[in-house]
Amino acid sequence: MAYSRLDKLVAQAAGIPRAEARRAILGGRVTLDGQVCRRPDQKAEESAQLSLGGRPLRWEEHVYLMLNKPAGVLSASRDGRQPTVVDLVRGEYPRRELFPAGRLDKDSTGFVLLTDDGPLAHALLSPRRHVEKIYQVTLDLPANEQMCRGFAEGVTLADGQKMLPARLEIDPEAPCRATVVLHQGVYHQIKRMFGVYGAGVVTLHRSAIGPVALDGALAPGQSRQLTAQELEQLRNAVGEK
Ligand code: URA
Repeated sequence: MAYSRLDKLVAQAAGIPRAEARRAILGGRVTLDGQVCRRPDQKAEESAQLSLGGRPLRWEEHVYLMLNKPAGVLSASRDGRQPTVVDLVRGEYPRRELFPAGRLDKDSTGFVLLTDDGPLAHALLSPRRHVEKIYQVTLDLPANEQMCRGFAEGVTLADGQKMLPARLEIDPEAPCRATVVLHQGVYHQIKRMFGVYGAGVVTLHRSAIGPVALDGALAPGQSRQLTAQELEQLRNAVGEK
């Protein structure tokens, strides 16, 4: 049987920060197997019956976290040498086998979905499901109409791989800035697509996955659980009910 501290279980189950869970416990708003428990460090089974403010909390089958990935962190679960996106949340979810649903390069920033729901992650990444990934880029030279046409037709990379059609929207105020919308995730895809036109990517930030935008309140390195509505939007985007 797996045991955890009560404050950790309540934070996970309610999708609230640990400090808030601790305050709720100290304030007598949490029950553990039917009894009020005011000790945040109380060890409890993960399957224990919890309630917060009279509302039952269930151990959810899966966790879905929106992370604002900082630069310098690997999109991986574990790495022997370098910090990973999962390392950023492991303390809060020690018993979950979380992984990033889709990778951003080490120097890229923005929305990474961390989950332990393999089928949903797989569906979000499948090019057949056409779930948009939206990126904000800055380039070392102005983007142009030739690039827009090429992206729309499907860029052929230097190694001969043909990419699916993508959207490139140039910022009219600052043409070194652009929005790129992809439906697939090939290694270094955006950098290689611009590379075909001799342009270098200076910064790359993922701002949305399908209909769900990165929460602007999350500083780099911060994460939060998806709301029920965001999760439903992602499920709808991949055609799941
Ligand atoms: N394309 C890239 O080149 N890098 C990323 O991190 C994401 C998309």
